[in-house]
Parts: sequence; C-alpha cells; structure tokens
Amino acid sequence: MAQDNKERLKEIKKFNIKMYRKFKRDNKKKVPEAEYTTVMKNSANIIEFDNLQTYFYTDAGTVKAVDGVSFDIPMGKTIGVVGESGCGKSVTSLSLMRLLQGPQGQIAGGQLRYNQISKKRAVDITKLPITEMQKIRGNEIAMIFQEPMTTLNPVFTIGNQLDECIMLHNPKMSKKEVKERSIEMLKLVGIARAEGIYDSYPHELSGGMRQRVVIAMALSCNPGLIIADEPTTALDVTIQAQILDLLRDLKDKINASIMLITHDLGVVAEMADYVVVMYAGRIVEQGTADEIFNKPLHPYTVGLMKSKPVLNEEVDRLYSIPGNVPNPINLPPHCYFKNRCEKCMEQCEGVYPELISVTPTHKVSCYLHAGSRITEDKKIGGKK
Ligand SMILES: Nc1ncnc2c1ncn2[C@@H]1O[C@H](COP(=O)(O)OP(=O)(O)O)[C@@H](O)[C@H]1O
Ligand code: SF4
Ligand SMILES: [Mg+2]
Repeated sequence: MAQDNKERLKEIKKFNIKMYRKFKRDNKKKVPEAEYTTVMKNSANIIEFDNLQTYFYTDAGTVKAVDGVSFDIPMGKTIGVVGESGCGKSVTSLSLMRLLQGPQGQIAGGQLRYNQISKKRAVDITKLPITEMQKIRGNEIAMIFQEPMTTLNPVFTIGNQLDECIMLHNPKMSKKEVKERSIEMLKLVGIARAEGIYDSYPHELSGGMRQRVVIAMALSCNPGLIIADEPTTALDVTIQAQILDLLRDLKDKINASIMLITHDLGVVAEMADYVVVMYAGRIVEQGTADEIFNKPLHPYTVGLMKSKPVLNEEVDRLYSIPGNVPNPINLPPHCYFKNRCEKCMEQCEGVYPELISVTPTHKVSCYLHAGSRITEDKKIGGKK
C-alpha cells in the first residue's frame, strides 16, 4: 500500500515537472498578434468566458479549481458570481487578470475573450503576452480586493497614490489638475472631508474609508470592467451596507461592467443584473437576477437562498447546507452536489449533469430539470 502511494506521488511529481516546463516555455514564446486576436460572439459583451479551465498542479495532485466555466459579461451590466468558499470564484477572476500563481496555477484550456474597445479588437486573454496584459490590468480592467491594504501602499499618502494613478492615465494633465481630479474622485466615493483625507496615510483611515479609497483608485482610470472580489467581507456589517450602497450608486453613474464576487447571495440580490452560481469549480446555475432569486432551480441555489439572512425575520438559527464540498483533487464522476442534496434521485448516480437552458437566459445543471430544456441554446447576456 505504502509502495503504491510512493509510486503515485512520483507520478504526480513527474507530471507536474512536465507542466511547469510547458508553462515556462509558453511564457517565453513571442506570440504574434494574429495568434491572440479573436472575435467576440456578441459585440455587446465586454468579456466572454468560454470553457475556462484553470488548474493547480500540486504535490497532492491536480486541483481543478475552475473546470469548464462559460458565461458572458455584457457591457454596462453587473454580474454576480456566488458560491461557498473554495468554489473557484477568485481563481476565475485571477485567470481573467492573469494573476495566477504560476507555474503551479495555470490556465489549462478554454478562451477568455476581451472586447478591447480602445484598440478596436478582441483578444483572447489566455494567449495574451504579459506585456500586453500589463497595459490592460489596472487600466481597462480594475480590481478591488477584499482587503484594501493589499492595494494601498502604507508609506505614501492617499493623495500621492491617487495622483499617481491619474497621472499615469492622463500624462498631459498639470499637477494642479491631477490633484483636483483626485479630490473629485474621493468625493465621488462619498468621502466628505476629501481634502483632509488626500493628505492622510492609509493607517490613519478606518477599513471602510480605505475601501472607499481603493474604489476611487479603481475608478480613476475609467475602466471598462471592475472586478470586486468580496469587497465587503473584511468590513463590519454597517460599513458593508454603506460600501454596497456606494457600489450600487456608482453602477448607475459609470458605464463600466462590474463582476461582483461574493459568498453572500444577499449582496448580489441588491445590484446584479445576472447571477452565476458556482459549485466545486463549475457553474451549476446561471440566469438573470430575477430568475435566480424568484425561480431558483438547482438545489444548491435553493440552499444558498435559505442560508441568506432575511431582514426583520426572526429565526432561531440560520440554515446552513449540511455536508462538505468534495475533495477538488478527486472529484466524483456524478453530480458534485449529490452527497449534500435532499432531492437526490436514482438518475443522479449517472454522469455529471449537463448545463441546459430552461429559458434563453436561465441555465441549470441538475437532473431534476432535464425535462425543462429548451432547444435554443443561448448564453446569458442576450443573443448569440
Ligand atoms: N495557489 C493555490 N494552490 C493550490 N490550490 C489553490 C490555490 N489557490 C486556490 N486553490 C484552490 O482552488 C480552489 C478555488 O479557490 P478560490 O477560487 O480561491 O475559491 P473562492 O471561491 O473561495 O474564491 C480551492 O479548492 C482552492 O483550494
Ligand atoms: S443532479 Fe441530482 S444530486 Fe445533483 S443537484 Fe440535481 S437532484 Fe441533486
Ligand atoms: Mg475568494
């Protein structure tokens, strides 16, 4: 038995070394533009995730963190990506930003089409040279992380950091204009004493204020897409509500699309146009916010809904879905939710259920709804 295990670990190691080498080779390669330019399926989308697979090659085996995820982000719309911790939400967004920890973490397959309006072209981010990606990151696609201190530099004032961002994108602006713009941005995110905050250091601000500053920095470059990964999780409850109000308010003021990542379905209910529900690296349900909140189909989505606290409703104990997510290294051949599902039937012993469309925008991967399939197969975000 011990011998078997040793053999297995040796095999894993050999395979990983092969994958690491491939990663290094691919990264060194000079990719001609023709190889990474592509065509959007729908020009009204800013992003199209198409069968994205992102794996981690670890000593214990391959973690399929994201395994065949497809959804669109239409321009100007907000997409909520929800699911319990570890389901692959952050890895999905880090893949889009090409910020995965290589060579362990790699995009193993699929396309990530980006409608790069500034250059009047569409590119496949999975193939993009890193120098091109650096121009997009923080400029055209901005990211707001859970912990604001990961973005802010403790040794510079808020003003310094905002000015730098604005100058980078507006090299012709005078120093005075840059400062005015910075203060305007601070006011836009609801900071009342903007001039005072401009001269403060990050440690002098509360967590909520820091997150507002990070949002101001993200907005200062006028991005086409903002990715907010659990932007309120590190904050206390009243401040969470204020930051969500701010995001909702900004959503109407700016033209950007927002990809809002959260483990809390309550957060997306307030502002998402479309919702993607992930479980163990796959999408189990997706649809318009109305479809997901009013007609949830997948037993997992229904469970998430039950575990969401409802205002003004007294409950003894908040519901939580019993059981655990399967081990991502050894995923079963059947539905990944089977061991936790109250609705499990004989059919569920079969292969992993296919994601089927039940309306042009609503998709679900569950045997309970196999009969509700419509023939037209369209992705969220409208016409194909
Ligand atoms: N650097 C890494 N090495 C190995 N596995 C990782 C790494 N980062 C993430 N994972 C795995 O990928 C899966 C998805 O993680 P993540 O996207 O961070 O989840 P979440 O939905 O909570 O954001 C998890 O199983 C996690 O353990
Ligand atoms: S396919 Fe079966 S086990 Fe899986 S969620 Fe649907 S009913 Fe439950
Ligand atoms: Mg995460």
